[in-house]
Amino acid sequence: MKNLKKIDPQIYELVKREEKRQHDVLEMIASENYTSQAVMETLGSVLTNKYSEGFPGKRYYQGNEIADAVEALAQERAKKLFGVPYVNVQPLSGSPANSAVYFAVLQNGEKIMGLSLAMGGHITHGHKLGLSGRFFTSVHYELGKGDVLDYDAIEKMALKEKPQILICGYTAYPRKINFKRFGEIADKVGCYLMADVSHITGLIIAGEHLSPVPYAHIVTTTTHKTLRGPRGAMIMVTEKGLKKNPDLPKKLETAIIPGLQGGPHDNQTAAIAVALQEAGSAKFKTYGKQIVKNAAVLAQELMKYGFDLVSGGTDNHLLLIDLRGKNVNGRIAAIALEKAGIVLNYNGVPGDMMPPLYASGIRLGTPAITTRGMKEKEMKKIASWYDRAIREVEGMSLPSDDKIKRAVLMKAYTVQIEKNNNLKALAKEVKSLCAKFPLP
Ligand SMILES: Cc1ncc(COP(=O)(O)O)c(C=O)c1O
Repeated sequence: MKNLKKIDPQIYELVKREEKRQHDVLEMIASENYTSQAVMETLGSVLTNKYSEGFPGKRYYQGNEIADAVEALAQERAKKLFGVPYVNVQPLSGSPANSAVYFAVLQNGEKIMGLSLAMGGHITHGHKLGLSGRFFTSVHYELGKGDVLDYDAIEKMALKEKPQILICGYTAYPRKINFKRFGEIADKVGCYLMADVSHITGLIIAGEHLSPVPYAHIVTTTTHKTLRGPRGAMIMVTEKGLKKNPDLPKKLETAIIPGLQGGPHDNQTAAIAVALQEAGSAKFKTYGKQIVKNAAVLAQELMKYGFDLVSGGTDNHLLLIDLRGKNVNGRIAAIALEKAGIVLNYNGVPGDMMPPLYASGIRLGTPAITTRGMKEKEMKKIASWYDRAIREVEGMSLPSDDKIKRAVLMKAYTVQIEKNNNLKALAKEVKSLCAKFPLP
């Protein structure tokens, strides 16, 4: 980055610091990953200079012969990898992809039904503060007994509510999703089934999770989580979707432009194509399998240390820990773990009485540390570090109903964590492990 260093030393310095941060910590945010150098190079290529409003062969700007070839290649690779007849690679990220689906399929005020945010759904699945909840009617299903999906209850609710779109696929759900059953429910209701597989795409490719393609009409996914590509997203229409509505591709294209976006980010499209090629390799399948193995070992070990895992474990890449049993607030735990060199996010847990900014749990995942090459042995070590870090803050809980007391305690606890030498010592151990597992 010699040019950046010369032209803008401040940004150069920040990029370098971020590079070091990413290297020195255990990156355990379930939705993050490290892309390959090839993906990075493509993102930084001259394709970033181009305007290509429209789609391959029908652009509003000249000079798009190469952009057409790039986008067509990304589409073809995705079609082949997922076994779908239509793919749109232009959504700028996961949230716009979901908005485009609603915009394509629904009239204002029509109804969507997804898992509530508090139970692990995504904000774009109908939360009242997001576009999907403001411009469409949304109803939410909840998790059932044992904090897992209750398909009978979902079916009953869907038949009563008659949504136009039933949504499955989640942000913080550690168990497998029965897409077949969801497909049957949607068929009974006569609605679209949209599977948002943003979190588990890489696992589907690796054969570690059932694919929604035979059962859903529309599949959306981000490209930067387990798929390990650049930030971005794709919308796929399945054979089942085309059968229900042959106009879906056209409607989705119109929803993207002029509906929601202008020109696609051609550098991002090309980088998605690169990630899709990488994801088609045998090496990627091995990677996907290791993500799941690592999460399973981590879950077992954490439970040995007395951590309470929502749903009692995991089948995929993520774990949700309910910290109420340890008498520690989730946000406090996340701050303490970061001090110890372990980066994740605090997260609500089913039945949480705390506001989202002070949620009672933490969410963690294995995709990024698996990319670094860490395996079962390292998971055992990491679980022991969680135990040590959380012991340092045990008892640091916060009240749900007293804002002032909460703010005072939060400040005091944060100061204590900042000064904690045991957490600092832990961060050194984490750093020395990280040194053995270089970034791609
Ligand atoms: C299930 C799901 N859908 C959509 C999104 C939104 O993706 P983005 O952050 O790229 O808008 C996320 C992001 O976390 C997600 O988990």
